[in-house]
Amino acid sequence: MAVKKAAKAKKTAEATAAHAVKTGHKGKVVLAYSGGLDTSVAIPWLMEQGYDVVTMTADVGQQADNMPEINEKAVKTGAVSAHMLDLREEMIENYIWPGLKANALYEGVYPLNSAYSRPLIAQALIYIAQAEGAVAIAHGCTGKGQDQVRIEVCANALDPSIEVLAPVRDWHMTREQEMEYAERHKVPVPITRQSPYSLDDNLWGRSCECGVLEDPWNKPPKDAYGLTVDPLEAPDKPAITEITFDKGVPVAVDGKKMKSIKLIGALNKLAGAHGIGRIDMIENRLVGFKSREVYECPAAVTLITAHRALESITISKDVMRVKSDLEKKFSELAYEGYWFSPLMQAIQAFVDSTQESVSGTVRVRLYKGSAVVEGMKSDSAIYRHDLATYSEGDMFDHSASVGFIKVWGLPIKTWTQAHRKGKVVFKSVKDSHLKP
Ligand code: ARG
Repeated sequence: MAVKKAAKAKKTAEATAAHAVKTGHKGKVVLAYSGGLDTSVAIPWLMEQGYDVVTMTADVGQQADNMPEINEKAVKTGAVSAHMLDLREEMIENYIWPGLKANALYEGVYPLNSAYSRPLIAQALIYIAQAEGAVAIAHGCTGKGQDQVRIEVCANALDPSIEVLAPVRDWHMTREQEMEYAERHKVPVPITRQSPYSLDDNLWGRSCECGVLEDPWNKPPKDAYGLTVDPLEAPDKPAITEITFDKGVPVAVDGKKMKSIKLIGALNKLAGAHGIGRIDMIENRLVGFKSREVYECPAAVTLITAHRALESITISKDVMRVKSDLEKKFSELAYEGYWFSPLMQAIQAFVDSTQESVSGTVRVRLYKGSAVVEGMKSDSAIYRHDLATYSEGDMFDHSASVGFIKVWGLPIKTWTQAHRKGKVVFKSVKDSHLKP
């Protein structure tokens, strides 16, 4: 069925392309549309280049108040059709949960919220393009960021027959010129006050850059934050919350089963109110320079902290060690636009197999900016009290340690006997007191 559909779409696209050669009309382009200034101006601009514009707006859980009327606005601006896709569940199932299972943090701190949404948007653009028989897709990224790389690499991987256009990167218009162009083409521009920052948000967190943040000496002002309170102003009383996981995925909070969208929303609210999830970092960009970004990821930070703790009692030492190397690789691939790479697939398969035993409950204390694990339990724990205890009930065979130490230390003893001559000396310790 899907193959038939794709073949039909391909035929339509070919017919459209042939028509374009004859008439100068290029066919349909699917534009990733947010309703902001850039993507609003992109509609008439693409029409001037000979395209019929179809818009695709992705709902990834962003805090936007223009969502209900966005399709209507796209059509008013000249789009031949407008699509709104609720991709929240897709994002959670195929990006956020795989990322959580991998404890993915780029450069050890960034939970990849923005990075996850780009391959998903590329997928959505290609999905609509194939359904509409479009010849191209378009995005509003500039030529400086890594989102252009992610969207284009992913889109090309999914359907190389569809061209990718980047109007904002190509038109070289300043903000003022864009406003003037919008007025000339009667494009309704957003009336909301322009933020001094560049913002991007979804279910997994909020990213904020530009403006005064570009000087790394500047402390991020209050208005750079939107999801969390300042830890200094957070409540004096901590919140204690219990998160239950099933095979690496959170399924309940405080014993209450919740659907994933609700669960993430509830934790964003609770942990955000305690100032958890603020990350202020200078990151190494894929495009070669360093940039500063301020992230707020209350649910992500809380869940990764809890998930990691649960793994510590349910996963074996050697698996944990290999996994932690692959977690780093996973984060780099996600950051660098290699979501659909064979290595990413292979790592995800490995990570999934490690999660079979990661079920149980973790108790976390949320207090003035930190999420601290207070307790954990699991029916599949390989933490054994009877092996670990120093008290009554100790089952560990102490006498076995004698032989173990002999064999474990043998290679080092052999080496030092051959190479290390003389007595032990300390350079900084006076040994005069040792002399009679
Ligand atoms: N630096 C982050 C990334 O590349 C976020 C990018 C979007 N940020 C923004 N404030 N618009 O994943």
